[in-house]
Amino acid sequence: MVDLSVTIGKLKLPYPTFTGSGCYGSGEEFAPFVDLARIGAVVLKSVTRLPRLGNPTPRLVHTPAGMLNAIGLQNPGIEWYLDHDVRKFAERPCAVVGSVAGFSVDDYAYTCEKLAARDEIAAIELNISCPNVAHEGETFACDPNLTAKVVRAARATTDKTLIVKLSPNVTDIASIAREAESAGADALAVINTVRGMAIDVETWKPRLGNVTGGLSGPAIRPIAVLAVYEVARAVTIPIVGQGGIETTTDALEFFLAGASAISIGTGNFTDPRVPMRIVDELEAYLEKRNIPRLQNIIGKANVGFANPYQFEGDEG
Ligand SMILES: Cc1cc2nc3c(=O)[nH]c(=O)nc-3n(C[C@H](O)[C@H](O)[C@H](O)COP(=O)(O)O)c2cc1C
Repeated sequence: MVDLSVTIGKLKLPYPTFTGSGCYGSGEEFAPFVDLARIGAVVLKSVTRLPRLGNPTPRLVHTPAGMLNAIGLQNPGIEWYLDHDVRKFAERPCAVVGSVAGFSVDDYAYTCEKLAARDEIAAIELNISCPNVAHEGETFACDPNLTAKVVRAARATTDKTLIVKLSPNVTDIASIAREAESAGADALAVINTVRGMAIDVETWKPRLGNVTGGLSGPAIRPIAVLAVYEVARAVTIPIVGQGGIETTTDALEFFLAGASAISIGTGNFTDPRVPMRIVDELEAYLEKRNIPRLQNIIGKANVGFANPYQFEGDEG
């Protein structure tokens, strides 16, 4: 049997597959259809300091190769979450990663500290694609200094694995990645959704209640592969690649670009078994080529990328 295991910070996972925040509930919802033990980690919907009702509807728009969403981070707030939801996560047969969002540096630190303190949470993902109210609403992930500040503040609250999720809505994602790494990130999730909009030509109005939204699914895959490729050359911490992954071939593109693990978001809306199927097919792909470990192929399409997980003496 081939070895698909991966280490992301302190997180040791038997499989290199995550499920995207906001796209897989807490895993429980899909338990009747999938063997959650065959998924590396489920990333929970982002939680904020205070409860949020989310954006006005419609919140989802179908697009030719994916979808636009503007959910608006609807969630019950960290206090309710800790009292009612988190306890259940201990029952999951896979790792559960908490996702933290916020609107100030203090928000992130507060929520991160509370969530990371819980044993049921294996690691924290920081969703920094949120506006900073103290900085004219500028998105944290779009500014290197804001990225550094928010990552440093979250880092100071926990020793657990901290995965920082980057936005593709920037000119130079590599420079943001470097700031996140220097500020203490253990890993990077690359990428979040791409900004977009759709207009109803009958009503002459935007189709999303929030006017703008985030594009996800196969439409963004080439953008995501390039982002992983560029980030992999800029940092030495592992990358969880994501954006439009639906098949094993899609996943392999990300591994070859330099991702150590991958995440499936929108793909689950059409088939929640995609993460499991990719694990099965990755095993077959490597076996057929006599490659003992998945980590042997990381970054192989990325000349100059040094794979920190390459094992001495391994072929492939
Ligand atoms: C309906 C929906 C809700 C999402 N909610 C969140 C969220 O709460 N936090 C977050 O960090 N990303 C969120 N995302 C982004 C996904 O986790 C993922 O990073 C992105 O969609 C790209 O991957 P994909 O093309 O496989 O979906 C959401 C995406 C969708 C489609």
